Amino acid sequence: MKDKIESICCIGAGYVGGPSMAVIAEKCPEIKVNVIDINEKRIERWNSNDLKELPIYEPGLSKVIEKCRNRNLFFSTSIRENIENADMIFISVNTPTKVKGLGAGKASDLKWVEACARQVAKYSKGHTIVVEKSTLPVRTAEVIKKILSAYQSDSTEMPNKPTFDVLSNPEFLAEGSAVYDLEFPDRVLIGGENKKAIMLLSQIYSKWISEDKILHTNIWSSELAKLTANAFLAQRISSINSIGAICEATGADVREVSRAIGSDKRIGSRFLDSGPGFGGSCFKKDVLNLVYLAEHFGLLEVANFWESVVHLNNWHKRRISNLVVQKLFGTVSGKNITILGFAFKANTNDTRESAAIQICSDLLEEGARLKIHDPKVKREQIEICLNAPTKELNKIDKNIHNNELMWIKEKNLYEAIRNSDAVIILTEWEEYSDINWIKASKIMRKPSWIFDSRSIVNPQKVNEANLNFWRIGDGS
Ligand code: UDX
Ligand code: UDX
Repeated sequence: MKDKIESICCIGAGYVGGPSMAVIAEKCPEIKVNVIDINEKRIERWNSNDLKELPIYEPGLSKVIEKCRNRNLFFSTSIRENIENADMIFISVNTPTKVKGLGAGKASDLKWVEACARQVAKYSKGHTIVVEKSTLPVRTAEVIKKILSAYQSDSTEMPNKPTFDVLSNPEFLAEGSAVYDLEFPDRVLIGGENKKAIMLLSQIYSKWISEDKILHTNIWSSELAKLTANAFLAQRISSINSIGAICEATGADVREVSRAIGSDKRIGSRFLDSGPGFGGSCFKKDVLNLVYLAEHFGLLEVANFWESVVHLNNWHKRRISNLVVQKLFGTVSGKNITILGFAFKANTNDTRESAAIQICSDLLEEGARLKIHDPKVKREQIEICLNAPTKELNKIDKNIHNNELMWIKEKNLYEAIRNSDAVIILTEWEEYSDINWIKASKIMRKPSWIFDSRSIVNPQKVNEANLNFWRIGDGS
């Protein structure tokens, strides 16, 4: 094993692989960082001269890319060459929930991780440290190790037989603040057995992170800690959303309840914002992974406890679409509804598991005509999420009585609001907190409703504009 890492390869140029390798390249100019992906289009976009075309939108990311790309950060599809030359390989590929077969609906599909391990085993030379970066079910490192050692024993005749160490180094970045989270993490977690391999990975992070924040654990604790962190965070959101429903029924205000409980240091003030339901690629998947694990070990009460976090979240999203329909006199059929925000949270173009998908689908099902606005999400992406092609607005008007699902993407915020019966805020984009409600009121159809699922609107301003107003968890 070398005494320091000179060349890194990351397999998977996604929301995790892209930003985390960009920050390593920025902080460690002496290390060559190669990010590879099987998706040629994605790599083309990472290499695009127009930084607006990068496949991922994250505040601060384009600056880091501009500084490091083609200096010590490279994006390519050359898998073999980059694996061969790497001292350390990060596996950062997607691990979606299985849709069929054993564990369908809960367990993660490890086919990509397995495929990567096989490629690493096949092409690696010398000693290679393999680092799990994707969130994985506990004991995945074992799978990777087994694949690597199977290839190793096959190549016993080779003079320079490759050798491996496997580490778990889960990523805790949140989308929308990925670059900040990578630069100033609360902690870095490294799980593994071989002390030298752990030290080599720690050395990379210690370039910009103090050593007391770099935690070493055994490999299984590291894997489980990642699932647990996401499960705890998701649980907090389901908890506060459940309390929001009680607030609406009783006359309490969820913001006041959050503030009151959040001042208790044992509870803490973050992650207590009631919203339209949690989304993102990790929470649901990781809670379900935990459920699957508990079921596997016969811990049914534990499995049920965690599964209820996901059930509550699903119920909560439906509760919002139902109450919109109820407020609009029990029907939205043929009505125009403006959806503000389609991303699962602000400052990202990511729509995976976004609450908007369920809520928009419910409203389309009820016959509403949606005008969707989001500053970063592309129309094509919405089309995939809703599984329904968009319609031209004039066609919508002409075909009002047909049964097709109807929505359009609208670029201009006030055009999105024009002629609508209701505006529903689903993502907390800053521009939505500055809407001129008097102007909006003049162009909406009466009686008009504003639904704020993110608590970003000033209620007084909406009331002054003579608009009906509902906001999450407000029973007052
Ligand atoms: C991924 C995992 O989904 C998640 O479990 C983990 O927590 C972090 O890593 P993310 O980076 O958001 O999350 O996924 P995604 O944006 O889908 O990127 C994965 C990339 O891997 C894709 O670009 C895909 O093309 C690539 N890939 C997949 C490969 O290059 N090779 C493969 O064999 C499979
Ligand atoms: C999460 C974890 O925070 C991160 O550590 C892990 O690496 C990946 O999963 P992410 O999904 O990117 O990150 O975003 P996060 O900020 O955690 O938000 C997840 C969802 O919860 C979003 O839909 C967000 O709107 C929602 N949320 C968050 C709330 O509804 N209320 C809150 O108070 C906080």
